[in-house]
Amino acid sequence: MALGGVFFVVASLLLVTARVLSLNEAPMEEVSLIGVAPAPAPLAPAPHMVINATKECPGVCLARCSKHSRQNVCNRACTTCCMVCKCVPAGTAGNRETCGTCYTGWTTHQNRTNKCP
Ligand SMILES: *[C@@H]1O[C@H](CO)[C@@H](O)[C@H](O)[C@H]1NC(C)=O
Ligand SMILES: *[C@@H]1O[C@H](CO)[C@@H](O)[C@H](O)[C@H]1NC(C)=O
Repeated sequence: MALGGVFFVVASLLLVTARVLSLNEAPMEEVSLIGVAPAPAPLAPAPHMVINATKECPGVCLARCSKHSRQNVCNRACTTCCMVCKCVPAGTAGNRETCGTCYTGWTTHQNRTNKCP
């Protein structure tokens, strides 16, 4: 939903910008449109997108699980998810949705809990 909100805001700003430009009869300058668009300010911080899973996942997961009550369990699950989803959320908890359904949809037996920390 956060992404939808950001998209709506950006789209609204672009519409307003386009209207202002046409009112002023300014030439269509795509560069100015890009310049006016705000920097992405997602509510949730961007996740760590993994390029080389073997190399990156252990370190990223150590950080992700550093405040977890069961760090070994967390690290195992995180590393598996990291290898497959190529993504680890920012911070030590939450923000799972930033890694998409691969991360959020992966549940343990009986669909009870998220596998990915
Ligand atoms: C990933 O990183 C490891 C460790 O640095 C390296 O040995 C391996 O070649 C890398 N793989 C790719 C596909 O870059
Ligand atoms: C778990 O969820 C999936 C998708 O919603 C469903 O197809 C499956 O039957 C569920 N499994 C259990 C054990 O509830």
